Amino acid sequence: MTPVLAMLHALADEASPRDVWWLYGTRNGREHPFAEEARRLLAALPHRHSHIRYSAPDAEDRRTIDFDASGRLDMRALQALNLPRDGDFYICGPSAFMNDLAAELAALGVARDRIHTELFGAGPSITPGVVAPTRPPPHLPAGVPGTGALVSFARSGLSAHFGPAFRNLLELAEACDVPVRWSCRTGVCHTCETALVAGSVRYEPDPIDAAADGNVLICCARPEGDIVIDL
Ligand code: FES
Repeated sequence: MTPVLAMLHALADEASPRDVWWLYGTRNGREHPFAEEARRLLAALPHRHSHIRYSAPDAEDRRTIDFDASGRLDMRALQALNLPRDGDFYICGPSAFMNDLAAELAALGVARDRIHTELFGAGPSITPGVVAPTRPPPHLPAGVPGTGALVSFARSGLSAHFGPAFRNLLELAEACDVPVRWSCRTGVCHTCETALVAGSVRYEPDPIDAAADGNVLICCARPEGDIVIDL
């Protein structure tokens, strides 16, 4: 919950007039952290919508106060809520939950690029620069070569020019089949954080929290000149 709770804090601080939907699913009140804090923050938002589901509520859990409905936060629940399809969706949870929910939102007509996820729990191992057997070796991107800054992927032993086909370093790395790891792709989760060996970058959009000194969030960074990154 912590990444989206941070967003809720930011929205509440500015009493944002935006429509904000806060959807949360858990087992019961004993497994519902930050419940009171989220309620207080939501109260500061004039256009808030909140829906809390407990899959196994305890006898002392109060319906309409602690939670709104029994059951899981799944496709049927989402349909019943009649969510706006043109919103930005930020999903945080275990990978199976996120994958299911993202697929269900897409089935409801939400554009894929409006669905952002952040893993809570164990994820696949991070193996920067280690090529999986089924993955093609790193290569120059297809299409017309870029004419921008030269980006060197140090571990992969590949250098490619940045170009207008890429919005950020992550997209260039993917086009080159350079092994990368990412989750939110919007500068929130830091899953893509990578050492910047040489050069400098600028961010677009600005990340919520800056990368550690000497590192770069490749999902929202573009090179300011020739750079070397530890991928
Ligand atoms: S993928 Fe989340 S910060 Fe880059």
